[in-house]
Amino acid sequence: MNISFTDVIPDVETYHDLRASVDWAVFCKEQSEKALKNSCYCVVAKDGDNAVAMGRVVGDGMYYTIVDVIVRPQYQGQKIGSSIVNRLVDQINAGIPDGGRTCIQLIAAPGKEGFYIKQGFSVLPDESSGPALRKVIYT
Ligand SMILES: CC(C)(COP(=O)(O)OP(=O)(O)OC[C@H]1O[C@@H](n2cnc3c(N)ncnc32)[C@H](O)[C@@H]1OP(=O)(O)O)[C@@H](O)C(=O)NCCC(=O)NCCS
Repeated sequence: MNISFTDVIPDVETYHDLRASVDWAVFCKEQSEKALKNSCYCVVAKDGDNAVAMGRVVGDGMYYTIVDVIVRPQYQGQKIGSSIVNRLVDQINAGIPDGGRTCIQLIAAPGKEGFYIKQGFSVLPDESSGPALRKVIYT
């Protein structure tokens, strides 16, 4: 197995296929295309020509959110997910100006918080922040 990592935005079919591979819902194509295009950073891992994993970042230069970290089940447990997260964090880090402060946030899937803790994230609430909250809207 020869895994390569590239900083590209996947096409919507690949994105939907990767989401489906981990039993995540797939939503409307138009929204997915717009979301992918608006990514600040995106990494795709390939085995040959086959996309086997991805992750992406959305944000504004001060606050970033890591989303869509997906490794196909048969490729999990081989450091691909952590390589993607670290590559995304390195790219964010490279764009931070001196004297800046940047927050990288994410919502872990159930049972996946340990994976992110190993990559240096801390679970909220902590000593300086309250709990994370969100509202989801279905249309
Ligand atoms: C979560 C996911 C991205 C991890 O990717 P992966 O390539 O299997 O993980 P890695 O091999 O890079 O693991 C890196 C480290 O995290 C650990 N780890 C992986 N999953 C973990 C979990 N659920 N809980 C605790 N630790 C975990 C590994 O044991 C490894 O530890 P080590 O460095 O001490 O050896 C992958 O399992 C996945 O795609 N799951 C389905 C989709 C999903 O839930 N994505 C995350 C959404 S928030």
